[in-house]
Amino acid sequence: MSVSYKELGLVNSRELFSKAVAGGYAIPAYNFNNLEQIQAILQACVETKSPVIIQVSSGARKYANAVLLRNLAKGAVEYVKELGYEIPIVLHLDHGDTFELCKDCIDNGFSSVMIDGSHLPYEENIALTKKVVEYAHLHDVSVEGELGVLAGIEDDVVAEHHTYTKPDEVVDFVSRTGVDSLAISIGTSHGANKFTPEQCTRDENGILIPPPLRFDILEEIEKRIPGFPIVLHGSSSVPQDMVAIVNQFGGKLKDAIGIPEEQLRRAAKSAVCKINIDSDGRIAMTAAIRKVFAEKPSEFDPRKYLGPARDALKELYKHKNLNVLGSAGAA
Ligand code: G3H
Ligand code: 13P
Ligand code: ZN
Repeated sequence: MSVSYKELGLVNSRELFSKAVAGGYAIPAYNFNNLEQIQAILQACVETKSPVIIQVSSGARKYANAVLLRNLAKGAVEYVKELGYEIPIVLHLDHGDTFELCKDCIDNGFSSVMIDGSHLPYEENIALTKKVVEYAHLHDVSVEGELGVLAGIEDDVVAEHHTYTKPDEVVDFVSRTGVDSLAISIGTSHGANKFTPEQCTRDENGILIPPPLRFDILEEIEKRIPGFPIVLHGSSSVPQDMVAIVNQFGGKLKDAIGIPEEQLRRAAKSAVCKINIDSDGRIAMTAAIRKVFAEKPSEFDPRKYLGPARDALKELYKHKNLNVLGSAGAA
């Protein structure tokens, strides 16, 4: 028996995106795999009055079990009411790779899906994306497609270099597929090692400065499809203070470099209206847990280390909404 996201009080992303583009901010898209992560995301977004996209990857489904995970998400609307302020919540499939996976999510309460055909030849990407759009739109579910390939690991596919999105392809892709939003490649990548030190320059204090995102490509894309919702994946900033805590307490995060916050702020003010962040949350949780383990070695109650991890995550996401994405106060 299938369930519509509307019965659950969730919303699709279409309306949120048009407001975000007009308002010059981006909706946060935070990944979750467990209870503490969804609690932190919802608490942060309620406290900052921000709309939110909570997203589930294939890896999350394998880790936590798809049925358990979506039931956790289904409690989200009631949970925010209990927290005292109702915010719009989108439940999104991150990096869906098959029609069947997207259909399963659409039939089970997701209000938005990504079909990531970016590794396929262009015409195959179009055919797969169009098929998902046709099914999703019957259910008023929004669809994100992707053009261009991010460097690094994406969907178990390793790409050594970015294949930047070609502005000349976007009108054709968007019109032939009917997607509601488009993920693009302009220099971001997944994970905590987005650049090697050799790709960076140093400022006067010796701090590594990564190469800037390709705003020229973003601008070209905006000219071709004005006001169309653009999505940025791989948008963690890899906060160096958190990396330092991880390493101080026994971790080995080497050469961890992310996208500077000012660049994401600039992107959020443009047609970029969804920004995906996962790795920063992982680093924040790891830092908090390592600290507890190092300082309180006799502690063995999971709530005593997952609780601080949840709190650290919540603070991180509040900061993102307030100072990076600009989504605070939009709900
Ligand atoms: O884009 C990838 C997200 O960070 C999800 O990662 O596939 O390890 O769950 P995952
Ligand atoms: P990060 O690894 O930069 O957090 O990117 C996450 C992402 O794009 C999820 O789809
Ligand atoms: Zn991604």
